[in-house]
Amino acid sequence: MHVYIEDIGKYEGKDVVIKGWLYNKRSSGKIHFILVRDGTGIIQAVVTKGEVEDEIFDGAGKITQESSLILKGTVRKDERAPGGYEIVANDLQTFQIAQDYPITPKEHSIEFLLPLRHLWLRSRKQNAILRIRHELIKACRDFFDDRGFINTDTPILTPASVEGTTTLFPVDYYGEKVYLAQSGQLYNEATIGALGKVYCFGPTFRAEKSKTRRHLTEFWMLEPEVAFLELDGVIQLAEDMTVSIVERILENRRKELEVLGRDIQKLENIRKPFPRITYKEAVEIIKTKEKDFRYGDDFGAPHETIISENFDCPVFVHHYPTGLKAFYMKRDPDDDTLSLSVDMIGPEGVGELIGGGQREDDCDVLLKRVRENKLPEDAYQWYLDLRKYGTCPHSGFGLGIERMIAWVCGIKHVRETIPFPRMLERVYP
Ligand code: 4AD
Ligand code: MG
Repeated sequence: MHVYIEDIGKYEGKDVVIKGWLYNKRSSGKIHFILVRDGTGIIQAVVTKGEVEDEIFDGAGKITQESSLILKGTVRKDERAPGGYEIVANDLQTFQIAQDYPITPKEHSIEFLLPLRHLWLRSRKQNAILRIRHELIKACRDFFDDRGFINTDTPILTPASVEGTTTLFPVDYYGEKVYLAQSGQLYNEATIGALGKVYCFGPTFRAEKSKTRRHLTEFWMLEPEVAFLELDGVIQLAEDMTVSIVERILENRRKELEVLGRDIQKLENIRKPFPRITYKEAVEIIKTKEKDFRYGDDFGAPHETIISENFDCPVFVHHYPTGLKAFYMKRDPDDDTLSLSVDMIGPEGVGELIGGGQREDDCDVLLKRVRENKLPEDAYQWYLDLRKYGTCPHSGFGLGIERMIAWVCGIKHVRETIPFPRMLERVYP
């Protein structure tokens, strides 16, 4: 019977068939220890001379790394074996012998591995990251689904910018210039009028011009939006979601975190409430390390790191000066120089995980902002309509999935958190 390695514990003492690939191998004269992976796990098979036909034993000695194979044998419990079980082989057939697999079991440089991403994904660590990615996305969806949010999909081809005009990817749309979506937010603001609370989840695109460990040009964003919700409420929502994600990964993906060597205690320490500080307070923190930093300056990666060093949990920074935030941000009624914006900065130097806030809900004010920002008015008519027909206070945020994965997994660079990263100077494979 064909079984998956992750289920092997259910088949102790039974005869099973495993279909997969050779991960690694070592031989000691009369025994071949074959590590087989099938995508769900890795298991050791023991092929012993005299216990299998000579042809099978000799064949096992010739199998190369990443050859595809079908293994038959009996499941045996063995504390010493990786995973606690091994297979006593009685048959081993190769489907194809792989010649000269380029990623040998030693350390390789990132420059070597990135062009081989299609193969690199097979490694144990990358496998663990992709499993955590899957779980994390499911945790996000479940969080919102369980709270009655409706998943609405927003378009990828869009006539207007959301997050500034400097990172747009233009596309020729039958002779008209449109752009790949930077965010689904503006469309979420329309669907809340129909559904009350929504989220979109999809790829977003930004022509980032700098190479950093936090930026991709194509990344996935989860964006909730809620009618009649103000800044405090959206901070609460982001906090609850983050705690829920971390709990879920600790519950279901501990094994994968261990493969990655993650300091699990750090995740276990994540508890509500997260600190909430104003932009102004954040500037004071930065100034203790960087004297030249001025109120009104935007945070770069090093500044976010300085802020995060002061806390074990993610921290919310709110009320940024209006000049640092997008045109749609509502202004603080008590101080017109401040926006009702919030970013969640992750711990351990991972940087901004979430950006969001309360949206401008007054039609005249919003039109003024569109003009001030020299945005093409025509493209925003529908967006202004939303303020003409039953406008209401509303708020939302965007979570960068890859940055969240990088934090949870404890990996430095977002390029390993997505199956096929797109970055400045890299679109292959
Ligand atoms: O802060 P941002 O630009 O916010 C928005 O796009 C809002 N319209 C979202 C909303 O309110 N619905 O982006 C949100 C998050 C960031 O906090 C970051 O985690 C991630 O998206 N992000 C990136 N991740 C990877 N590569 C990039 N180039 C990213 N740019 C933003
Ligand atoms: Mg942001």
